[in-house]
Amino acid sequence: MPALVLLGAQWGDEGKGKATDLLGGSVDYVVRYQGGNNAGHTVVVGDQKYALHLLPSGILSPGCTPVIGNGVVVDPSVLLSELSGLNERGVDTSKLLLSGNAHIITPYNVTVDKVTERFLGKRKIGTTGRGIGPTYADKINRVGIRVQDLYDESILTQKVEAALDVKNQILTKLYNRRAMAVDQAVEELLGYADKLAPYVADTVLVINQALEENKVVLFEGGQGTLLDIDHGTYPFVTSSNPTAGGACTGAGVGPTKISRVIGILKAYTTRVGAGPFPTELFDEDGEALRRIGGERGVTTGRDRRCGWFDAVIARYATRVNGLTDFFLTKLDVLTGWEQIPVCVAYEIDGKRVEELPYSQTDFHHAKPVYEMLPGWSEDISKAKSFADLPKNAQNYVKALEEMSGAPISAIGVGPGRDETIEINSFL
Ligand code: GDP
Ligand code: IMO
Ligand code: MG
Repeated sequence: MPALVLLGAQWGDEGKGKATDLLGGSVDYVVRYQGGNNAGHTVVVGDQKYALHLLPSGILSPGCTPVIGNGVVVDPSVLLSELSGLNERGVDTSKLLLSGNAHIITPYNVTVDKVTERFLGKRKIGTTGRGIGPTYADKINRVGIRVQDLYDESILTQKVEAALDVKNQILTKLYNRRAMAVDQAVEELLGYADKLAPYVADTVLVINQALEENKVVLFEGGQGTLLDIDHGTYPFVTSSNPTAGGACTGAGVGPTKISRVIGILKAYTTRVGAGPFPTELFDEDGEALRRIGGERGVTTGRDRRCGWFDAVIARYATRVNGLTDFFLTKLDVLTGWEQIPVCVAYEIDGKRVEELPYSQTDFHHAKPVYEMLPGWSEDISKAKSFADLPKNAQNYVKALEEMSGAPISAIGVGPGRDETIEINSFL
């Protein structure tokens, strides 16, 4: 099994950090391939809790080489403070590799993100305000700054000039803000060069050579399928491709190298930020999911919107990612409900629809069609095997598997490493 992808099957925060960390012990490389520090991946090791934003979750497994691929957007100050935070806690981060082709989130792009959201008012996306969208926009517009540019002052200055030329017009004339100085931005960026230098590498070459040597490479997605710029609920999405194809472009590997694509799937649904969410709950059940599930953003501290499991989006995730299997997380959170509604289809303008509609208007009108599954009241957090689960919990898992279109290989019954039920040799 040379290369595998692990990604979010819903709107993010499915438990990718925990799942990656679990696999970290048995893989050689863990590679982030898209997104940036909009991600917040939680890993719990014993009584220690880590919140990772840019670093791949494999950083906590000593045998594993963590890689930040070319498709990631990197805020150098966040990366450096994440590294020093881990070093203070005794984690060795010296193996980290950072792609010289990864784009840098510049200070002006953080400003543009925040100003744009404010300007959008009611129509805002609810971004994390970390400069993600503007940095990917600069990349596509060919005025982005890459990690390698930090090592050529003259090129860096020319590129910052090119980027700020238009941006300053927009900032001053449209948003009524002060223009940003080229030399100030250049100076700040140059200040990171020496500190990042030990990590910078030709990661495409490293990863492909590792694959040639039959090393195991795990690609860790940020965000989730429904936040994908192409396949998500556009425009309420992030600006990258968390879906499986993103691993190829964001790390420089061919699709033929990837033999397994694992979807991380929460036993219910959450979403942060704006956009349609058919199974969202506005009642005490939603409040209870938020409370019991601890559904508060790792990056922004915002309350997550909560709702029942949606099998339509799970089926969609199976299809657009070519999922081979799922890791079902947070089953323990559902303990205590007498009956658990599961959305099996939508009703759109009076018609039953089984698959995710491609039209944004239809999706906004989608009402969930629920099937009620019997719940359980026994504590399942100590369950070690599928057989340890109460019958109704087993049936809930089987029903989700049936509806979602791929086998469930593992089940999370708590945040800790050992609070996991392995079904089909997940590890
Ligand atoms: P990610 O962004 O996909 O890595 O997910 P987050 O870390 O943002 O959110 C998932 C949260 O659920 C974290 O607080 C995890 O520690 C926690 N978690 C992960 N798996 C489980 C599980 O099976 N049960 C419970 N109760 N918590 C879990
Ligand atoms: P992890 O990796 C959940 C959401 C934001 C907003 C939209 C666009 O922890 O699952 P952006 O700042 O990316 O331009 O915001 O995407 N978003 C996430 N939601 N989990 C994440 O990451 C997210 N990263 C971005 O809330 O709706
Ligand atoms: Mg998260």
